[in-house]
Amino acid sequence: MAQYDVVIIGGGPGGYNAAIRAGQLGLKVACIEGRGTLGGTCLNVGCIPSKAMLHASELYELANKDFAKMGIDGKVTVNLPVMLQQKADSVLALTKGIEFLLKKNKVDYIKGWGSIAGPGKVAVKAEDGTETVLDTLNIIIATGSEPTPLPGVDVDQKRIIDSTGALVIPEIPKSMVVIGAGIIGLELGSVWRRLGAEVTVVEYLDRITPGMDAETAKTFQRILTKQGVKFKLGTKVTGAKASKTGVALTLEPAAGGDAETLNADYVLVAIGRRPYTDGLGLETVGIVPDKRGFIANDHFKTSAPGVWVVGDATYGPMLAHKAEDDGVACIELIAGKAGHVNYDLVPSVVYTFPEVAWVGKNEEELKAAGIAYKSGKFPFTANSRAKVNHEGEGFVKVLADATTDQILGVHMIGPQVGEMIGEYCVAMEFSASSEDVARTSHPHPTRSEALRQAAMGVEGWTMQA
Ligand code: FAD
Ligand code: NAI
Repeated sequence: MAQYDVVIIGGGPGGYNAAIRAGQLGLKVACIEGRGTLGGTCLNVGCIPSKAMLHASELYELANKDFAKMGIDGKVTVNLPVMLQQKADSVLALTKGIEFLLKKNKVDYIKGWGSIAGPGKVAVKAEDGTETVLDTLNIIIATGSEPTPLPGVDVDQKRIIDSTGALVIPEIPKSMVVIGAGIIGLELGSVWRRLGAEVTVVEYLDRITPGMDAETAKTFQRILTKQGVKFKLGTKVTGAKASKTGVALTLEPAAGGDAETLNADYVLVAIGRRPYTDGLGLETVGIVPDKRGFIANDHFKTSAPGVWVVGDATYGPMLAHKAEDDGVACIELIAGKAGHVNYDLVPSVVYTFPEVAWVGKNEEELKAAGIAYKSGKFPFTANSRAKVNHEGEGFVKVLADATTDQILGVHMIGPQVGEMIGEYCVAMEFSASSEDVARTSHPHPTRSEALRQAAMGVEGWTMQA
């Protein structure tokens, strides 16, 4: 077999974007994927199916709770098998789409599990057990991540589930305990709460969503609580006993104190994700992952010559768009171009209702770094479009350098803010000042006017009543 320029292990956002870019740049490239479909965690069991369930359950809740306010009467009911099927159909269509894109860009898609078999060699084990060895100039590790296990709470995907199990529960649970008030826990907890489950979130820390701007996280928790989610913060889970019909969890205060038992139909373990590098043959090229399992990189280069790493398997936010950007930049560097990713401006979005979105630094980070900043804030209650749509909760907050006015961070909670954060990503990539955004025309009446009003607020000339 002819030598490849690049062999990519893993067909998720990091791997398939690298493969497509390599094809576009005329490199001879193969992409190896073991799960049987392309798209990785994101398309198969992550971003895409979770958003399909979030969208459907949001419409259900809107129909039953908010339509009456607008003079639309009548209750709707959930047909769970159809809801799960439309999610599965979307996933299948999108994974097939990636397969088409690989073909179109002349990428060899090789089904099987890949492992490094020494410098310039990748072994592929197919489903039928046959093994082939590929010769290549470069290897990219794009093997992604898996859920972090919680000792004493063993996932059986029946009653104790992880995010993959939470996307296919065959019934609407009466009760669910979510362990971990992070993004997965709050998105998937929201799905099942909207569909009828009583949801309790148990979190070790004394706040939700670590990493999110603290004021925004507080508002987020207040809104979720109003929607019916119960929180037990500063609490640790010490054990779980699953039966055929449910789970008994034992909890105690993180700081120590009396234990209690919490019973639920289902328990979702969502305490983070860790790199997936099992059986990858890293030892054959001398790569030693760090204590948490991450493979270190310098501009995607690992410690082994000709071996590169992108996406969740290495450092940076564990997000699909970051993995995509890594994949493209890595290939551009391999092709002798100037690949680059600006990790300071990778946006984050939580796709609950309302959504939460942010980019850049939060107030706590600016204070810790000793950077003087000004802040402008605008509430959606004062935004005409949000108001007429009965979606008035949340705000946009812009943080700008006190001296130069350069925008340093933007934090929003409100309806569809995930669709709006991109404006600030572009502005910040171009080192915009808050005044640049404040003086830019925005269409009326749109929620996006809140972005401009918050920027105007930095200099105190917002139009808020
Ligand atoms: P992955 O997507 O994990 O892909 C790696 C692939 O490599 C997998 O398909 C795996 O089967 C394959 N593989 C592993 N080892 C081998 C091997 N030895 N041989 C062959 N193949 C192998 N991110 C967002 O940005 N937005 C979201 O809304 C979002 N929602 C999420 C929701 C959930 C429930 C979860 C779990 C994650 C979500 N994420 C989201 C995170 C996102 O899915 C990941 O950051 C992203 O998929 C990482 O891409 P990757 O290519 O590095 O790895
Ligand atoms: P996370 O890191 O976002 O949150 C985990 C939470 O669990 C934290 O609040 C942590 O303090 C808590 N925790 C840890 N150990 C605990 C314990 N023993 N008991 C109780 N709480 C404990 O991780 P999560 O939610 O699992 O998501 C993993 C990653 O997947 C995210 O960080 C994100 O990168 C990605 N993701 C992104 C989404 C998006 O972009 N919308 C959606 C879903 C996942």
